[in-house]
Amino acid sequence: MDLEKFVQYVHDENKVEPKDVMPDDYRKLLVRQISQHAHSEIVGMLPEANWISRAPSLRRKMALLAKVQDEAGHGLYLYSATETLGNGTIRADRDATYEDMLKGKAKYSSIFNYPTLSWADIGAIGWLVDGAAIMNQVMLMGNSYGPYSRAMVKICKEESFHQRQGYEILMALCRGTKQQKEMAQASLDRFWWPALMMFGPNDDSSPNSKISMNYRVKRESNDSLRQRFIDVTVPQAEFLGLTIPDKDLKWNEERQHYDFGELPWDEFMTILKGNGPCNKKRLQTKVKAQQENLWVKEAAAAFAEKQQEATK
Ligand code: ACO
Repeated sequence: MDLEKFVQYVHDENKVEPKDVMPDDYRKLLVRQISQHAHSEIVGMLPEANWISRAPSLRRKMALLAKVQDEAGHGLYLYSATETLGNGTIRADRDATYEDMLKGKAKYSSIFNYPTLSWADIGAIGWLVDGAAIMNQVMLMGNSYGPYSRAMVKICKEESFHQRQGYEILMALCRGTKQQKEMAQASLDRFWWPALMMFGPNDDSSPNSKISMNYRVKRESNDSLRQRFIDVTVPQAEFLGLTIPDKDLKWNEERQHYDFGELPWDEFMTILKGNGPCNKKRLQTKVKAQQENLWVKEAAAAFAEKQQEATK
């Protein structure tokens, strides 16, 4: 295939569709990124599901249940989008990509390796984690692969609701008792830096960025999205009356952006290597669920086969 023509095609804002001819490295890049994105949605259900039974009211429980279900839906769209990329040489079926995650070969977002210690963490996850996810995913709506970019449109709408429900939880806590406000602050203290790490390594340490940008999968760099997230989030923290845990955070009049401190990159690398606070627990939970629920999958497959036989 003519690589130059393909690059020009995506630079002209055309979408690539599943049956189109595409370079192998483009296909592989997408399988890696979309499947990891799907794993993040699925593993991301765990820290929040931890609070469904302990939500402080029926209304909060209903909203959290709906949110966690949305994340399952996002994972399923994204596995389906990944599957459109499989061919004779590159495997992209759900069993294969999921297995890679269970074996620790494929990543999911670092953020889901932190525990949710208080109800305020559910607020912080909605506000910061879903907020960071939207910042990245709005950019991804413009990516060059049709099924991925279209999946992002619906996902972003739902993530927006998630962000607001999180912020609203924190508003209630910040307007509540002194103890509730302290709980909200403690949660911001714990989730601030991990949320910033969601955008990935700095641009000069990001091995995939160059090719991803050239293929119009990524439309903006890790650092540029991180900066935008900080710029919009600081005023939101001020509105809540909370303090961002960064002594170097300061508005820079000349740059018209906030300056901020160095991220804890050692912590990020520890998590990426599978040694973060909850890495092992998250994978164990998923492996156990896979084993215990295997019969459901087998029963569904047997039923589908029976149905097919009946219609022959
Ligand atoms: N957590 C875990 N791994 C990460 C993270 C992170 N926060 N950031 C980067 N990495 C990994 C990359 O996957 C890559 O590893 P790999 O080559 O083994 O796949 C490596 O670190 C180097 O990073 P980059 O070269 O910058 O990787 P990339 O260009 O793929 O950019 C990014 C990373 C921004 C996360 C990109 O993959 C992306 O936009 N993904 C889709 C969105 C997504 O997955 N969001 C997750 C959260 S969604 C949610 O909240 C449910």
